[in-house]
Amino acid sequence: MSEYCIELNHLTKKFGNFTAIDDLSLKLKPGKIYGIIGPNGAGKSTTMGMIMGSLFPTTGDGNVYGFPLSSTSALKLLGYSPEFTSFYTDMNCIEYLHYMGCLGGLSSKESLDRTYELLKKFNLLDHANRKVAKFSTGMKKKVSLAQAMIHHPKVLLLDEPTANLDPTSRQEILNTVRSMVEEENLTVLISSHVLTELETVIHHVLMIDHGKLILDESIHDAQERFKQGILVLDTDNNESLYEQLKDHWSCELKSDCIKITTAEMDTLKREIQEKAYHGGILIRKLNEEVISLDTLYKQIMEGENNNESNI
Ligand SMILES: Nc1ncnc2c1ncn2[C@@H]1O[C@H](COP(=O)(O)OP(=O)(O)OP(=O)(O)O)[C@@H](O)[C@H]1O
Ligand SMILES: [Mg+2]
Repeated sequence: MSEYCIELNHLTKKFGNFTAIDDLSLKLKPGKIYGIIGPNGAGKSTTMGMIMGSLFPTTGDGNVYGFPLSSTSALKLLGYSPEFTSFYTDMNCIEYLHYMGCLGGLSSKESLDRTYELLKKFNLLDHANRKVAKFSTGMKKKVSLAQAMIHHPKVLLLDEPTANLDPTSRQEILNTVRSMVEEENLTVLISSHVLTELETVIHHVLMIDHGKLILDESIHDAQERFKQGILVLDTDNNESLYEQLKDHWSCELKSDCIKITTAEMDTLKREIQEKAYHGGILIRKLNEEVISLDTLYKQIMEGENNNESNI
């Protein structure tokens, strides 16, 4: 059996003459949370649609745990919360989730039990008997996530699950997803434009631009590769050390630290340690700053735009 839960091989999707996805290959490992990012129109939803079988690739193929894309066996293993959801207007929350569970292959009893389990997880028990179509945007998002998980899928595809939500609801949804990933050993592919939050849950980052995959790396490796040579220093006498460093290094004295930008990190660290030792200054923190996903995204996009303008 393959070590991957999803494999996409040279997928291309054309809408008329327009190429939305361009020769995209991808391998997702079980038990990990993958963030898929990129500008509007990059091809994130189209990629998810092809994995889900709601869109057919123009060329290329793929599989879910070895089952071809859009086969019944592949679909059973997938849960999907689409970017835009629509609900049956006459169903209340229990009826809707129960119905979706039955469609997903659960018995009526299994589906009802799972419905209550998920209503509890997503804090929706108080609204269980209300019509979903009348729910607020945030509550609808939660129901959409619950329906994606109802049939115990192995892989979850979440297309902007936190869009248009208030910060508390966004964090609540991400925390629930994270805990379910741990409890049920799921793989998640999640798209979002809120990168500061996305980086708190993902293990791996995929970046798409103009239908091409331009980054496919663990978040840790990407942050290492793009780190900007900024040292964050905090001591019991930042002012004194800043005075000693500022003529030779590019430093900034902040309220709680000194930030120094350099391409000679080892030399800088040595010099700081020597100065601190001789001056009797206690070093509390001496760390290289971790680049945020947001800054990393902007850097890569700047590079892409420069490449385009050079063509
Ligand atoms: N059914 C369709 N017919 C024609 N063009 C389409 C269709 N679906 C998507 N596209 C085009 O394909 C491109 C990729 O769209 P897609 O929805 O995958 O982008 P996205 O990365 O999800 O963007 P967003 O961040 O705005 O959700 C866009 O240019 C879009 O206009
Ligand atoms: Mg989209």
